[in-house]
Parts: sequence; C-alpha cells; structure tokens
Amino acid sequence: MNYLITGGAGFIGSHFIDFLLSKLSETDRVICVDLLTYAGNPENLADAVKHYNFEFIEGDICDEALMDSIFAKNSPDVVVNFAAETHVDRSIASPDIFFNTNLLGTVNLLNLSVKHGVSLFHQVSTDEVYGDFAQREDRYPKGFTEDAALLPSSPYAASKAAAEMAVLSYMRTYNLNISISRPCNNFGERQYPEKLIPLTVKNALGGRAIPLYGDSGNIFREWMYVKDTCRAIYTIITLGNKGGIYNVSPSFSIDNRSLVERILSIMNKPHSLIKQADDRKGHDKKYSICSEKIKNELSFEFEYDFDNSLIQTVQSFIK
Ligand SMILES: NC(=O)c1ccc[n+]([C@@H]2O[C@H](COP(=O)([O-])OP(=O)(O)OC[C@H]3O[C@@H](n4cnc5c(N)ncnc54)[C@H](O)[C@@H]3O)[C@@H](O)[C@H]2O)c1
Repeated sequence: MNYLITGGAGFIGSHFIDFLLSKLSETDRVICVDLLTYAGNPENLADAVKHYNFEFIEGDICDEALMDSIFAKNSPDVVVNFAAETHVDRSIASPDIFFNTNLLGTVNLLNLSVKHGVSLFHQVSTDEVYGDFAQREDRYPKGFTEDAALLPSSPYAASKAAAEMAVLSYMRTYNLNISISRPCNNFGERQYPEKLIPLTVKNALGGRAIPLYGDSGNIFREWMYVKDTCRAIYTIITLGNKGGIYNVSPSFSIDNRSLVERILSIMNKPHSLIKQADDRKGHDKKYSICSEKIKNELSFEFEYDFDNSLIQTVQSFIK
C-alpha cells in the first residue's frame, strides 16, 4: 500500500507518520507532502527519514500541477489530509489563507484522488466544527454526536467544516471512499509553541506572563494525548466504514485556567504568572464531543492517561 500524508511535518501529522511506519510492512510506502510553513518542521521527521520506505516532498497541497505529478508518480492508495492552517487567532487576523489551504487545498486533493483512483481519502477535521457546546448542551447529554449540525464559530472552524462538506460531496457524487475524524484538542511533544500548552511552558521558562483569554476558569476544552489521536486515525483508516465520521475524544475536560495552573505546578513556577487578557472574538466557551461511535463500532479504547502524558509533554519542552 502507498500512503500519501499531507501536513506530516507538523505536530500531529509527524506523530502519525512515526506510528504508521511502525505498523507497515517493508513493501508499503509513505510519502509526506508538506509546505513547511511556520508550523512545519523537518526535524519532526527525524525518525521517519531513517526508514527507506519513507519520502518527504516539500510542496503545497493547493499546487495542482505539483500534486498531480506526485499522485501520478506515487499512485497513493490512501490519502490522509492533515495539512492545514490551524491557529484560531491567526484565522481571526487573516481568514483568507485558512479557506485557501483548508478548503481549496482539500478540494485539490479530492479532485486528484478521484482522477488517480485513490482507495480511501481520510480527512482530519476537528471538534471545533460543532461550535460552542455551551449553547446546545441541553440537547446532547454526552457531548455532540456526529449527527449534530455543524455551527462553526471561527474562520478556522468554518474552513474545516467547509472542507468536510466538500469531502462528503465527493463520496456522493464521485463515489470516492472517504472517512472523517473529528479529534478534540491535542497535546504532546513537537507542538508548535503558539498553542496553549507549549506557550505556557515557554513563557514560564522565560519568566514571562501567560495571557489567558476572557473568563478562563469557565472556558472548557477536551484534551487528548497525540498518540491516542494517531491510534484512532489508524483505526478509522483500517476498520472504519465508507463515509464514516468519527468523534475522537477521551472526554477529559478541563478549564483553561486550571490547565495552566497544573502546568505551572509541574514546573514549580508561580501561578501569579497568569495574566488576564481581553477575550478572543467569537470565543467558544466549551467543546464537548461524544466518542461512543468509535468505541462501539470500531472497538477503540483510549490508552493514555492525561496527567502522566502532560508531565511527559512539559518535560519534552523543557529539554
Ligand atoms: N492540534 C490540535 O489540537 C488539533 C485538534 C483537532 C484537529 N486538528 C487537525 O489536525 C491537523 C493537524 O494539526 P496540527 O496541530 O498538527 O497542525 P500544525 O499546524 O502543527 O501542522 C500543520 C502542517 O500543515 C502544513 N501545511 C500548512 N499549509 C500547507 C499547504 N498549503 N500544503 C502543505 N502543507 C501545509 C504545515 O507546514 C504544518 O506542517 C489539522 O488539519 C488540524 O485542523 C488539530
């Protein structure tokens, strides 16, 4: 089997490539295409490049001619699309590139997947596509289920929801075999230091303030260690149904202030480093998703404990 992984020099994509390479046989091949934006780092692929059946190609998923030649040369059986602009604050400041990469880049990959007869296209989406759980909590006692309407709040979330719509239309119209994962917030080694956990560690190490948006004790996110995300996506790719959409969250929920306080405690740093900042525009108060489907349909079980994984992650940023 030939796997084309986009965005594989980023945080989750690089962990997924390591995981995939540990699972595959010697006849399988993994090709990673990544534009190496500010968020992509070739060092994230330091282990992967030691495998003779791995190849890295620097390129833009929006580049039709380049991507066509990559599909023609490598005949991918499975495409896994991680490539995206991913930071909500950046999407509020400059939305256009989010729709360009996250929507039009995905459409380019879909067109080429149809043209080159790809067996499975997997789209990595996000729990943010549902929008603010606080506004619909009463209707979903265990968190949003996969059939809940998508009501994205930020341009980032809207671009990911739009990409999902494109993916679904290619299944219906062109009979492309697709699946979609919607993971909750990820954390782990290699995450780019603009995101909450690595930013907290970086600022605390430098004795700098850690800004928290709005009423941070009442802003809740669900968190998952990146290696569970990789296991879940691999499970969906290998066992998931055609057209299957799967929420992925171990349902570990914590408010932003408590999370930052835990990190500061791990680092023996004073909680007084936390500084109140103005709220983010359109800020969702809470995300909560129900992962019964992946557990029941695909017998998936989450493996990683939050506290131990957090300590390990914090230590990796200190090294
Ligand atoms: N990190 C999370 O908490 C989280 C949660 C749910 C879903 N997701 C989704 O998972 C995927 C990966 O997220 P991440 O946190 O690893 O992101 P990341 O920002 O760390 O990595 C994104 C990667 O995509 C690459 N990229 C950007 N534009 C590209 C383009 N035009 N062509 C080719 N490559 C391009 C970047 O260079 C980078 O390597 C994204 O699709 C994101 O929406 C992330």
